[in-house]
Amino acid sequence: MCGIFGYKGRRNASPIVIEGLKKLDYRGYDSWGIGIAHEDVIHIKKDAGRIEVSREMPDLEKLPGTAGIAHTRWATHGHVTKENANPHSSNNGKIAVVHNGIIENFQEQKQFLAGQGFKFYSETDTETIPNTIEYHMRRGYDFIEAAKRSLKHLEGQYAILALDSEGKIVAVRKEAPLVVGVGKDEYFLASDVTAFIDHTKDVIFLEENDMVIIDGGLKIFNLDKNAFVKRPVSKIDWDAEQAKKGNFDHFYLKEIMEQAEVIERISNTDQKIIKEIAGEIRKAKGVYIVACGTASYASMYGLYLFSKIAKTHVNSCVASEFQYFKHFLNSKSLVIAVSQSGETADTLSAIRAAKSMGAKVVSITNVNGSSLMRESDKSILQKAGPEIAVNSTKAYTSQLAILGLLAYELSGKLGEGTEELKELSREIYYLTSENARKFVKELAEKLKDKEHIYLIGRGPQYPTALEAAHKIKEVSYIHAEAFAGGELKHGPNALITKGTPYIVFSSGETEKETINSAMEVKARGAFVVGVGPKNNEVFDFFIKVRDAGDFNSIVQIIPMQILSYQLALLRGCDPDRPRNLAKSVTVK
Ligand code: F6R
Repeated sequence: MCGIFGYKGRRNASPIVIEGLKKLDYRGYDSWGIGIAHEDVIHIKKDAGRIEVSREMPDLEKLPGTAGIAHTRWATHGHVTKENANPHSSNNGKIAVVHNGIIENFQEQKQFLAGQGFKFYSETDTETIPNTIEYHMRRGYDFIEAAKRSLKHLEGQYAILALDSEGKIVAVRKEAPLVVGVGKDEYFLASDVTAFIDHTKDVIFLEENDMVIIDGGLKIFNLDKNAFVKRPVSKIDWDAEQAKKGNFDHFYLKEIMEQAEVIERISNTDQKIIKEIAGEIRKAKGVYIVACGTASYASMYGLYLFSKIAKTHVNSCVASEFQYFKHFLNSKSLVIAVSQSGETADTLSAIRAAKSMGAKVVSITNVNGSSLMRESDKSILQKAGPEIAVNSTKAYTSQLAILGLLAYELSGKLGEGTEELKELSREIYYLTSENARKFVKELAEKLKDKEHIYLIGRGPQYPTALEAAHKIKEVSYIHAEAFAGGELKHGPNALITKGTPYIVFSSGETEKETINSAMEVKARGAFVVGVGPKNNEVFDFFIKVRDAGDFNSIVQIIPMQILSYQLALLRGCDPDRPRNLAKSVTVK
């Protein structure tokens, strides 16, 4: 949710920040902007829309200066206009700021500054930041001291980069992502490492309220401790190539195709951490899984598997609702947070609520060094590699695989679980092959003009139906809704009209009852699509996937991811950048 990027070093900053910004545009693409300091002037260029398509590009690359900041926006405060795009500068033009997050006390701050004669030119909360710094500078403090004083008084969650006209950069992170890349005589600041991995793999993961000062060298001052601190430099263990599209038209398809590899990698995962976390689940009195969106459907699948394989009861709750259930948590409770990015604000709030009640927190996350990982007592890394498309695919199936392994370990059969995953990766190669994709495209052709698509599943296939509906609506904008098979007759049957598509996930112990539901909707004129190991005369269209037992949810979602991709293309939607969405939802 908004991407920020900063550079200070020995090279021309402009092409570097533009490149970094393009890599971050999956975090928000309402507007963009860059600011470069040169000869005591900050040159700012910004506009509504995406930087990728900006007509100003050739001029931008020529801006001189070796320090710059950049921003790609997902609008929170203020409309999508050029005026509201970051960077925002102070009234005297000597300070520019880019910002991800929300400044909660910006209205009071704005009022105060207006009383001091400051003028405002946008509707954003961001604009108060450079002006607060200028206010302190007018009182005699230098840029760094003024920034320190200003940042101490900002309430909310944010990551901020402030640039002065001499090229000094000050940055701070508070409950929003910001990492530092360390190169040779140069530094990078970004919302995530994908933005600078081409330049360096040496990274500093900041702690809360760390203020980075880049003025020649780099120093870190912690605003809570009121002292300079040292943070270790870590090495990123994946390649720049993994964060690139390569020969694929879209990251969405690339990431769908990577799933066989990801599942194989998880089958070889370090069993020690699986055993440790299963141990925590065994010890706990009350286990709750919290997550948002796609990760919440993965969590729901976890419930079915923990019950069936491990005979263990766990609860799950969407993270944004969890605080309303926190009252019965105590020091024996365990909260498992599942989040690809590890930066989702609602998920972080849920674990903080849990911790405030003394509960233990473990997490399943894809991003090493993320806030979630650092705030958890223990973490399992998903190892799905960077997920760039806004819609989650490989991160979802990797979450299913990890939750499955935990359930197997709880039942004392981890070896069996890992073997099943190994088998599965072969099936996934087939399911993502060109032939399989062509076949699913035939279905997309039939569904592309429908207004509604309904999906039905039972047991672990219910979350599969929910996730498939989520994927279809996110990228194709067709209204898609999932129901537990048994619920149809309690209301949703009223929606059936002639030709309404129903996608039915049938397999294993739920097969018979699911087929019954399919018969009911077919009898009322529905167009029935079956996904599962066995064809049935009730299906008007059938996608065969092999029976993968407890991991059926992994194989059955893959044709649905492909279906959503094909629907997006046929309907002229951008599969990598769905409207109004952004990767990593860092605001509540
Ligand atoms: C859907 C999607 C979102 C995320 C949700 C949680 O395709 O990507 O629904 O799953 O915003 O994100 P994480 O997993 O990063 O916490």
